[in-house]
Amino acid sequence: ARTYENILVDKPADGVGQVTLNRPKALNALSTPLFKELNDALQNMDDDPSIRAIIIAGSEKAFAAGADIKEMKDLTFSRAYSTNFIQLWSTTITNLNKPTIAAVSGYALGGGCELAMMADILYCTANAKFGQPEIKLGVIPGAGGSQRLSRAIGKAKAMEIILTGRTFSGEEAEKWGLAAKTFPDFEGLMNGAKETASIIAGNPMLAAKAAKEAVNQSQELALSEGVKFERRLFHALFGSQDQKVGMSAFVDKVKDPKWTH
Ligand code: CAA
Repeated sequence: ARTYENILVDKPADGVGQVTLNRPKALNALSTPLFKELNDALQNMDDDPSIRAIIIAGSEKAFAAGADIKEMKDLTFSRAYSTNFIQLWSTTITNLNKPTIAAVSGYALGGGCELAMMADILYCTANAKFGQPEIKLGVIPGAGGSQRLSRAIGKAKAMEIILTGRTFSGEEAEKWGLAAKTFPDFEGLMNGAKETASIIAGNPMLAAKAAKEAVNQSQELALSEGVKFERRLFHALFGSQDQKVGMSAFVDKVKDPKWTH
């Protein structure tokens, strides 16, 4: 395996992979080298059959304080446009087949908030600090913030947050439906993420991948199209071994079915 300078990789539990952003001196600011490593590690985990769920974490103080402002300061329009700056950020993460959990403590600002929103499940500490402060730098969110935040918490709140640049807490994030759960402290957060990842890792993975794909389509399609998409995947799963295993186990009262995938 390759060694990384800006991230740590780990297997905190059976079937669970974890990537931890690790640029403590810059509060995990998301530089291009960091993102290249993150993408590489995530793709490896998606391809690794021993990993069935993935946690993306930061430190207690910062999940990530945003895109690296020092790297962007002298960026020009022509270079941003011709390199499609930041497109690199979302292509790998949003195309992973396996379920991902973002575990957010401390700052999740700008690109940090956007990264967390790209995960399938967002867990955070109650006092995590989310925000899209780009307006205070003379720009706007560039990694999907205006779109994903609006879909998650609605237009009114997203407008308020993006236009003022104010932060919001983990508690607010949960109340508004952006976070699935909050935890009182960092240790609780990491244990909670690990427990949920372990539960997902113990489920039949073909079904988990299909479930993820179906829920993701709900963010893209009209309702009737989405329901049709779901039904086709539902039908397809009757072609899987795990449907036979799972339903026979229920009927025969077998407690711990052995999944094929
Ligand atoms: N980029 C580069 N460096 C950063 C950074 C960032 N986004 N955030 C923090 N750092 C660096 C600081 O420059 C500082 O480095 P030095 O010691 O070399 O000066 C170090 O991390 C520690 O930061 P602070 O001294 O500022 O720590 P603090 O505790 O006083 O404040 C903070 C913490 C409120 C998070 C503050 O660092 C901050 O406001 N950071 C910037 C947040 C931001 O604007 N993010 C949005 C970026 S734009 C974006 O993300 C675009 C997009 O949509 C993709």
